[in-house]
Amino acid sequence: MAEISEKIKEIEGNYLEENKEGLSNDDILKLQKKYLKTEMKNLYDLLKLVTDSKIKKDYGRQINELKKFIEDGINEIKENVETSKKEKDSYDYTILKRNIKFGKIHPLIKLGREIEKVFTNMGFAIVQGPEIELDRNNFEKLNMPAHHPARDMQDTFYIHDPGILLRSHTSSVQIRTMEKIKPPFKIVSPGTVYRVDDIDPQHTPMFYQIEGLVVGEKISFSDLKGLLTQFIKTVFGDSTQLRFRPSYYPYTEPSAAIDMSCIMCGSKGCRTCNYSGWITMLGAGMVHPNVLEGVGYDSEKYSGLAFGLGLNRLALIYYGLSEIRKLYENDISLWEQL
Ligand code: DAH
Repeated sequence: MAEISEKIKEIEGNYLEENKEGLSNDDILKLQKKYLKTEMKNLYDLLKLVTDSKIKKDYGRQINELKKFIEDGINEIKENVETSKKEKDSYDYTILKRNIKFGKIHPLIKLGREIEKVFTNMGFAIVQGPEIELDRNNFEKLNMPAHHPARDMQDTFYIHDPGILLRSHTSSVQIRTMEKIKPPFKIVSPGTVYRVDDIDPQHTPMFYQIEGLVVGEKISFSDLKGLLTQFIKTVFGDSTQLRFRPSYYPYTEPSAAIDMSCIMCGSKGCRTCNYSGWITMLGAGMVHPNVLEGVGYDSEKYSGLAFGLGLNRLALIYYGLSEIRKLYENDISLWEQL
């Protein structure tokens, strides 16, 4: 009955050949039927023909071993198919991969939005004005008639048509707003401004400002002080100190320059604060009666406070950058850190 040994070897060889990766459920069922039913039956049929009980026992053991070997093998394939199916089912192709990079919001825009939020929380409305502006709104109506010396500090780019220029500050939005609405109101106006200004690393010909204007009855200098103190402390922390210095702007009277204690060096003196411990953050003042009258407001009844903030400089200090130009170098690795 050497035949049985031959048959066992043959079945085992065939089975190993057919047990490949990537079988479908149908293939597995076929495999199961062929080897665990048909072929086993053939082997047992052969076994029945063996008369010697000792040899019979030995073949019986060999057949059982083969059966066990095939059963284990088929169970293993089934398990593999099951887990890979589960993995496929639990994969949701509609979910976007989380680490796809879509770019970053520019730090100036980000900070601008945060500042707008501080003001809208205090009841301010946000107003936009055009970057191509009339000389009238940028200078004249702000108490800077033609040939006023203060125009020199804000020399800008002129459009071919007379009286049209790239706005040199967001203060032009003050005029546009006051000519449109009646007091009381509180507005801030963020945006880009332009100047013939390229003299050092702290100046660029285009930069961002945020303008503020509050007009109503009995608006006083203490309102201005309280408002700007609140604003700076919200952005830079409660321990930041403010200093109001007398200054000059044709459209405010009195005018002030507002410094804050240098957060880079804790007011000890460093490059950023020119070793003074203070950094100038804002220009501000009480709206000049000529400006109020010029837009048709009664300057006896209404008063106003105004302020202008250079966002680039604020960003520099806020993010601890060394140069304003860094904000325009499109260095994404820098954006990632801010
Ligand atoms: N427009 C000024 C500038 O660009 C900043 C400024 C100063 C705005 C005083 C104001 C103000 O509204 O009252 O330097």
